[in-house]
Amino acid sequence: MPKRPFICLGIETSCDETSAALVKDGYNVLSQIVVSQENLHKKYAGVVPEIACRAHLESILPVIDRVVKKAKLKWFDIDAIAVTVTPGLVGALLVGLSVAKTLSLVWKKPLIGINHLEAHLYASYLENPRPRFQFPVIGLVASGGHTSLFISRRPFGYQKIGGTLDDAAGEAFDKVAAILGLSYPGGLSIEKSAALGNPHAIKFPRGFTDAHSLDFSFSGLKTAVLYYARGQNARRDTPLKKGICITDISAGFQEAAVDTLIQRTFQAVQKYKAKTVIMGGGVVANKRLRDKMSLRAKAEDVRLVIPPIRFCTDNAAMVAGLAFQKWKTGKISNLYLDALPTQ
Ligand code: KG4
Ligand code: ZN
Repeated sequence: MPKRPFICLGIETSCDETSAALVKDGYNVLSQIVVSQENLHKKYAGVVPEIACRAHLESILPVIDRVVKKAKLKWFDIDAIAVTVTPGLVGALLVGLSVAKTLSLVWKKPLIGINHLEAHLYASYLENPRPRFQFPVIGLVASGGHTSLFISRRPFGYQKIGGTLDDAAGEAFDKVAAILGLSYPGGLSIEKSAALGNPHAIKFPRGFTDAHSLDFSFSGLKTAVLYYARGQNARRDTPLKKGICITDISAGFQEAAVDTLIQRTFQAVQKYKAKTVIMGGGVVANKRLRDKMSLRAKAEDVRLVIPPIRFCTDNAAMVAGLAFQKWKTGKISNLYLDALPTQ
């Protein structure tokens, strides 16, 4: 271990955010920049991989330059380069990986490949130097591409115990927003619309597949909203029905999605007798989820750690932070490191 602090540069380009961050000793975020491509993908109501790759290419070097300047550091202060290598859009991952390899080679610094889902869970450790989580820990990742549950019996070791059978939670928010004519990305627009509606006015199905399973399913819920808003057996281009209340539908959908995430998480808590729950991913930015999850954790006497919103949506601080833990245990990559779209 060096005596001086260990500063890691994190690079995140797995989907539609170009981000770089500098993190000291795994916890202390010195600077972070996130450039969102939201406006580029808006008119397609979803991420277009080719557009995402090109935008990452244009942004990545200026973003790294800015993040180093923002921390008032020089490149030679950086001890390692960490980069997300899986899962994600392969072209988008390759942009970050190529830059990370080049910097590692030119600056002669170790390269550390990072799993995006583990990084989302690591967000609970950021700016939390002595977390002292009691194990077992249940981890929930709810993002645009994943809805997964993990069991962790030791720090930074995870085993997947549940996943989505169809749409991811964030994908369901995005698709329901499109059905209701709300703007992309859907998570935030549904949340804003739901804040003006009654969550109990319309009861949508909770999408449970099997009471003993820890898997998720959101496509039934999405279809229920489609039929409610546009009519039985409607398609997405069928016009909205007259007289429907978009805010009540948003609130009813959000309630069903949030209840499903909470129900499954606490099923896992009971099954594994977990003492702590940690969460990450863009959907964890949702206030209703944060509030209801907190109430449930209190009722069940389980410690809940929810990261600040800037570390829930895609960001590079979680990548650089986790990399410090990998580096401490000698998990360094080499220049043969490859990008894997699926884990
Ligand atoms: O983790 P993330 O930034 O990227 C992926 O790894 O996918 O998650 C993005 C997803 C999108 O589907 C977005 O609609 C959703 O997170 N999201 C939200 C909220 N903010 C972002 N969903 C619900 N409520 C929010 N406030
Ligand atoms: Zn993510």
